[in-house]
Amino acid sequence: MERNWWKEAVVYQVYPRSFLDANGDGIGDLRGIIRKLDYIKELGVDVIWLNPVYQSPNDDNGYDISNYYQIMDDFGTMADFDELLAEAHRRGLRLVMDLVVNHTSDEHPWFRESRSSRDNPKRDYYIWRPARNGREPNNWRSFFTQSAWEWDETTGEYYLHLFSKKQPDLNWENPEVRREIYRMMRWWLDKGIDGFRMDVINFLAKPAGLPDAPPADQPSVFGGPLYANQPGIHPYLQEMHREVLSRYDIMTVGETGFVAPEHGVLYTGADRRELNMVFHFEIVDTPAQLDLPLLKAIWGKWYHGLKEGKGWNSIYLNNHDQPRQVSRFGNDRQYRVESAKLLATLTLTLPGTPYIYQGEELGMTNVCFETIDDYRDIEMLNRYAEQVAAGRDPQTVLAGLRPKCRDNSRTPLQWDDSPQAGFTSGEPWIKVNPNYPAINAAAAEADPGSVLHYYRKLLRLRKQTPALVYGDYRCLDEADPFIYSYLRTLDGERFWVLLNFSDQPQTVALPDELRHSRRELLLANYPEAENCGAVLPLRPWEARLYRMAMESGSAERA
Ligand code: GLC
Ligand code: CA
Repeated sequence: MERNWWKEAVVYQVYPRSFLDANGDGIGDLRGIIRKLDYIKELGVDVIWLNPVYQSPNDDNGYDISNYYQIMDDFGTMADFDELLAEAHRRGLRLVMDLVVNHTSDEHPWFRESRSSRDNPKRDYYIWRPARNGREPNNWRSFFTQSAWEWDETTGEYYLHLFSKKQPDLNWENPEVRREIYRMMRWWLDKGIDGFRMDVINFLAKPAGLPDAPPADQPSVFGGPLYANQPGIHPYLQEMHREVLSRYDIMTVGETGFVAPEHGVLYTGADRRELNMVFHFEIVDTPAQLDLPLLKAIWGKWYHGLKEGKGWNSIYLNNHDQPRQVSRFGNDRQYRVESAKLLATLTLTLPGTPYIYQGEELGMTNVCFETIDDYRDIEMLNRYAEQVAAGRDPQTVLAGLRPKCRDNSRTPLQWDDSPQAGFTSGEPWIKVNPNYPAINAAAAEADPGSVLHYYRKLLRLRKQTPALVYGDYRCLDEADPFIYSYLRTLDGERFWVLLNFSDQPQTVALPDELRHSRRELLLANYPEAENCGAVLPLRPWEARLYRMAMESGSAERA
């Protein structure tokens, strides 16, 4: 397999709004990030991915961009950005920016022009359609609203928005739009940034004729699979690769909903000239009730699918759109520390480039706000309003939406136990999680048994262990509902990961192939309990990483 720095890298995602507020206005900013670069470096990661920092009216926290060439006032200035980039590079950290080009803000000058008249030269930068029988041009539902179409009085047509009505979709069929986007990408890359995380990138190409989503007789249908992976996407990405990406030593990761490994190879295959890796949603979209065999099947299927197609994967369990991983996949009450460490062990030893979301390294948890007034996320607010308007009981609606709400992961990073968790000296834009006096970076720093120290050890270990990056992956217990046990093997080195995904003690029978190998415990989330028998007892949420001696001539080496 070809070796690349972006396969070996570990990425740390910074959500700037909630990271650290340096000037007391309640909003995290670039100077706040600069102040904490040593913290990020010390964790042992290689790359920082910044959520959008471009100028934006913030209908969707920066994913509605009104100027691609400027920094959002809330976050600082271009001089601050240049300093952040230089300071990151000085520490050997790379910086990856979010690229949001499926849509702009409706306040972007392109859209202002486009909506001004039907014959404006920028009209065709967006997707305009006349009414159909006095209604929307088709039945598409958007991610955030009932219809994906918004009526525009001035010119008497609808425009398409797969997200909020302040996020009109760009028309990628227009070569001028593509040229403008490539020019902007080169402008940032020429500044020296190290790559892009590409927002909903597999939605750029729309289905020919914009057909109704099935069932076609419904007034409003969410047509996710129809919005994604249209054949036209590949020529666009290959053109982008030719015009931009291939000219720089960078990394690219596409955010791609509705993809299976078959699509994954098309986007990431080494000879495809599109992207380095994608974020698929198959893990985070599994049902709320933990289903370990299902998760193993998904990771296994992606590993084999991408291996054959020479593609590459990314590994994540949470981000700014998902609940906190320890609340979602672990036990954030009785076994918060143990399960946060177990999940770290998992994400940092599965095949693929791992992504750590800010605060994950502290074992930060979901938040449970009492009232809808404390929530800020447009998706949450719109869904709540929609369901309440439909006559449902507000408390029931709130309870139903809470577990998956995006604000779970958007509360301020908890730095210490001072007021507002040390995030701001002012009023934070969203309330801090009330558990900050116990869960915060200062406390974690002082406690050798903390989740934070575990991440640091694990990241150091990963750095020294190419098998965890390039090694073959083999699951030893596909069907076990509580235990996840797998091997990573490379060049005569073999590592065994053993995880107990449950609140109960479990026992694991040593597989025959491992029974006679010497094993060395490299890392665990409990004090060592050496067991020499053929059955290993595991405590609740126990995680272990072993180096296993390889017998000469064993099957693994072949
Ligand atoms: C992506 C972003 C999300 C945003 C959406 C629209 O899914 O991660 O935060 O709301 O795209 O840009
Ligand atoms: Ca600020």
